[in-house]
Amino acid sequence: MERDPLGGAPPLPAAAEDHDRPRRRFLLSLGWGGLALLFAATVPGLLRFLGLYARRDGRGAVGVGLLNDYRASTVTTRWVSRHGLWIVHREGRLFALEARCTHLGCTTRWIPESDVFQCPCHGSRFSPEGAALNGPATQPLSRLAIRLERDQVVVDRYMKASMEEAERDPRFFIRA
Ligand code: FES
Repeated sequence: MERDPLGGAPPLPAAAEDHDRPRRRFLLSLGWGGLALLFAATVPGLLRFLGLYARRDGRGAVGVGLLNDYRASTVTTRWVSRHGLWIVHREGRLFALEARCTHLGCTTRWIPESDVFQCPCHGSRFSPEGAALNGPATQPLSRLAIRLERDQVVVDRYMKASMEEAERDPRFFIRA
């Protein structure tokens, strides 16, 4: 057998190398498999961190208090600054409206004396149901999905529908 002039281990004979190849391949695939698993486990967390996953799977859910907190014929303003939404209780239904004006995105204000939402930027007005009453906005305020989890009212800020769709879709109102 030939000796390494630098004193290292002698080279393996060709038969031994062939014998080691499947083992090496196995260890390599084990390593890649581990990396793939690690990647799969961290991607959802990363996407959630970036705010992408939340949009896709509707995890924009926020708790907005108990059903009993909402009196009939009221518009609740307490979630506007934190979550950008109105909770409206009208004619036996509780529903959520996105507070964002459909013209250029300013946050609307509730004017109880006039029973309308008004946009401070260019004056658009919306009914308590979200319908556009005066321009320049022509589209209604978006409805947001709403549900009960035990007694807790939960709004999904990433699941939206137009006013017409939401009127027919029970995911967008709670009978109350
Ligand atoms: S942004 Fe609301 S009317 Fe223009």
